[in-house]
Amino acid sequence: MRGLREQLSRVRHIVKVRRQELFELAAPGSIVHVTAKMHISIECVSYDNVGYAADFRDDTVVRRFRCFLDEGQWGVYATADSKVVGHAWAIVCRGRSRMANHYMKLQSGECLIHFCSVEPSCRGKNIYPAMLVALCRRLFEEAGVQRIVIDTEVDNVPALQSIRKVGFSPLGRRVYLQLGRLLVWQKPLPGGDAGAAIQQQQACRAGLGSGSVYTAEILRPQEIADEWDQLVDESPQGCIFCRIWWLTAVCPGQLRLLVVRKGHRLAAGMPLPLRRRGIWLTVTLPDLTQTPGVLLAPSQAERYEARLSNEMAVLRSLVDAIPKVDVFCTNTHYSFTNWLPFYWAGYTQTTRYTYAIEDVSDLDKVFRNLAPRIARQIRKARREGIQVENPRTLERFWT
Ligand SMILES: CC(C)(COP(=O)(O)OP(=O)(O)OC[C@H]1O[C@@H](n2cnc3c(N)ncnc32)[C@H](O)[C@@H]1OP(=O)(O)O)[C@@H](O)C(=O)NCCC(=O)NCCS
Repeated sequence: MRGLREQLSRVRHIVKVRRQELFELAAPGSIVHVTAKMHISIECVSYDNVGYAADFRDDTVVRRFRCFLDEGQWGVYATADSKVVGHAWAIVCRGRSRMANHYMKLQSGECLIHFCSVEPSCRGKNIYPAMLVALCRRLFEEAGVQRIVIDTEVDNVPALQSIRKVGFSPLGRRVYLQLGRLLVWQKPLPGGDAGAAIQQQQACRAGLGSGSVYTAEILRPQEIADEWDQLVDESPQGCIFCRIWWLTAVCPGQLRLLVVRKGHRLAAGMPLPLRRRGIWLTVTLPDLTQTPGVLLAPSQAERYEARLSNEMAVLRSLVDAIPKVDVFCTNTHYSFTNWLPFYWAGYTQTTRYTYAIEDVSDLDKVFRNLAPRIARQIRKARREGIQVENPRTLERFWT
């Protein structure tokens, strides 16, 4: 029996299931000041005072805090009567992106607050919220962070109450399954973050804190139909597969349009055919649809360098605003060649080749330029009675 219990505890150690409630703070102005109900001072954790955590934590924790400092994490202690009674830490993403605690993906300028605790006899006195206020201010002002994420177990009521007091807004709930250090699976929990993430993106967070002049929003087709079709007309990537009438025919009811604006003008767009497949929320290619992809408005800049940097900024805003879904897959038009902002955000791509016959006014000329094998196959198909015709309706084409 004891052996079985040990085995179970070992498995539990390897297989970790986290059911987390997530929150974010996107601007220093959102911080709600909270005062502790007892006299405390808040100080930054440094190599000089890191050992003081031993006032209420064991040596293993103190050793961990030293590692946190080595990794460049930001920490604060709450001290009462010269004793440390609380701590809170933050992992800041300095590069393009990083995985925090093996399950939380952070983008550049984001951070995750984690490893927080208050000495049991001092709980219920606003010490945790007071530490969060001080830590968040440091992160925005000194660490140059633009978005702070915090999470806690869905049933950790005291932590949830404290986080809300400080002004964090909810992002929903997620469950994460880890095998050792490997994140193998994650999904939103009911009432969870798929919707919240979209609303969050609708709040025009794109270009977040980077001084970006672009704003992003996710709209229903009827909210933007005319403007969208104008973008399709103007964009080099515009094609039948991006037209509202096409998209609403192939993904009725589930279509959203992600648009990026500069001022009032549409600078870019991307159809989001959202679909629930069991527990998964996905954005994938609708039936019959080849390249819904990314649409860029033609650039008005004259210099190539200016055109390119505008394009990068627009695309970064667009990529930042893609809602968090379980599967994301799209195809882009062959004239869209700049997928670098997607790469920076952790997306992967495969190249497929498109051969375009630009001028079909002289079909004999087109035919003469075909590979002999293709020309032979077309002739054979004609002999066998195959005809090319305009199906006029999607239903007829599909049947
Ligand atoms: C979560 C934790 C950090 C909160 O710290 P705290 O300084 O007690 O936070 P608060 O003072 O804001 O208390 C939060 C709520 O906990 C409840 N609470 C917990 N312990 C209490 C106590 N001993 N007396 C009174 N209320 C208490 C209260 O309802 C309080 O909410 P309220 O002030 O609106 O009534 C602390 O409970 C803790 O260290 N828990 C263990 C570690 C942990 O869960 N960390 C996760 C952090 S994400």
